[in-house]
Amino acid sequence: MSRIETARLGSEGPEVGVQGLGCMGMSFAYGPTDADEARATLERALELGVTLYDTADMYGMGENEKFIAPFIQANRDAVTIATKFGIVLDPDDPAKRGIRNDREYIRASVEGSLQRLGVDVIDLYYMHRRDVNVPIEETVGAMAELVQEGKVKQLGLSEVTGPELRAAHAVHPIAALQSEWSVFSRDVEKTAVPAAAELGVAFVPYSPLGRGFLTGAFVKADAELTKDDFRQTMPRFTGENAEKNAQLLAPLRAIAEARDITLGQVALAWVQQQAQIHDLSVIPIPGTRKRTRVEENTGATRIGLTAAELATLEPIAGQVAGGRYADMAFTSAGRE
Ligand SMILES: NC(=O)c1ccc[n+]([C@@H]2O[C@H](COP(=O)([O-])OP(=O)(O)OC[C@H]3O[C@@H](n4cnc5c(N)ncnc54)[C@H](OP(=O)(O)O)[C@@H]3O)[C@@H](O)[C@H]2O)c1
Repeated sequence: MSRIETARLGSEGPEVGVQGLGCMGMSFAYGPTDADEARATLERALELGVTLYDTADMYGMGENEKFIAPFIQANRDAVTIATKFGIVLDPDDPAKRGIRNDREYIRASVEGSLQRLGVDVIDLYYMHRRDVNVPIEETVGAMAELVQEGKVKQLGLSEVTGPELRAAHAVHPIAALQSEWSVFSRDVEKTAVPAAAELGVAFVPYSPLGRGFLTGAFVKADAELTKDDFRQTMPRFTGENAEKNAQLLAPLRAIAEARDITLGQVALAWVQQQAQIHDLSVIPIPGTRKRTRVEENTGATRIGLTAAELATLEPIAGQVAGGRYADMAFTSAGRE
């Protein structure tokens, strides 16, 4: 299998594989993991040309950064490592989440991530969530100090609106905006995508497979998920919503059957194709812990959907039952 193409991560680069790898599920959120298979998945992804690896300090409270650290260190020059600060978990009850964007917190967080990853510099450092009590200019100012000090190469933001992205970019260039974007979740197209396109900020869609839903894996999701699976708390995966949402996959299934590809590949091709539609760099980071799936997912970068096929997928997002988070105040859409 040949290597995937590349795309620019922000107007100042670097070039990275046009699809990255979300590492979150390897230690957090989606139930039990086979650690050996997950490690092999990291290696296979690199062979296929995947160079952007995505984690965050809160994934497993630091465990995910530690899990991928040996791989990152062994391949330091070939990979771009992205991590995030800003979501604070309560160790006694990880379901409780806070947000911190202040300078003191950022400075402490970067040291923790550098240490757990075992690297001298983080290639892309994201603010994970926005604390509306701290001006974004102040947060990005503190992040920019880390660039000046050589601890971080490029800055990113997650779940910010278009106006927030513009305000941040005026303080220091933002290389990437990471927010949820998929056939199921298109609220970012309102202000965030146009702002990113105008500013030359790369868009890194997270959960491009709708957290697995778009692969057709779920019908009665809450019955199929283990108790520790975070999706149990997500309105789209529960009860009647999941059953209704499963019906919405019919157009993906029709394209997949006609072309002899998978539903997940249709979903990934759709998100990749938004690069041409909105004229910006798009680098989705599907998450998987399995080699065969990283092969399947990277294969989707070579699939182009026709205008007629895209048109059949167009009405889906407007019909999805349930928000993408239980508390939408946690997202950029909650501030639009
Ligand atoms: N910035 C943020 O706030 C934020 C939020 C969520 C996620 N993220 C990042 O984005 C990454 C991706 O998002 P995500 O993991 O939430 O969702 P996703 O990529 O939409 O879906 C991941 C789920 O799909 C399954 N899957 C992957 N490829 C598949 C395939 N070819 N066939 C069938 N199932 C497949 C995975 O299971 P297996 O692992 O078992 O293959 C996993 O359950 C995360 O890893 C994380 O790095 C960021």
